[in-house]
Amino acid sequence: MAVLDLRFDGDPVLRAVCDPVTAFDDALNTLVADMFATMYDAPGRGLAAPQVGVASRVFVTDVTWKEGDRTPIAFVNPTVVARADETATGTEACLSIPDRAFDVDRPVWVAARWQDLSGAVQEARLAGPQAICFCHELDHLDGVLITDHGVEQ
Ligand code: NI
Repeated sequence: MAVLDLRFDGDPVLRAVCDPVTAFDDALNTLVADMFATMYDAPGRGLAAPQVGVASRVFVTDVTWKEGDRTPIAFVNPTVVARADETATGTEACLSIPDRAFDVDRPVWVAARWQDLSGAVQEARLAGPQAICFCHELDHLDGVLITDHGVEQ
């Protein structure tokens, strides 16, 4: 595993609409392992492939590790299949936008669908911090940053 160089706001790769992953191979496994290493090193709770210069639809999250319980998930080709009408405003930061914080509205839950590293389709209803993190990272795959729709604190 390797800690990769982070890309920062202003880098064009952060504005790319990322390409679907089609090969569930060793290269994908290596990318994801390196992304987890980079996320934990940063330290962050989520990291999307464009943040390490790869315009592919993959991100990793672990929303609990800072509280001592590791729950790593790799999301490949993630989508939202349903979402709550109700939204809540929370504070978000981004490893690509250091030392800034934004208030962002997100749905209070999302029904997510994605593929795991074997290519198998997974589905889950995510709520709270998991929903926030999923939506934040999914935005990255479409070139959207919290500077676009958040209110800076
Ligand atoms: Ni981010």
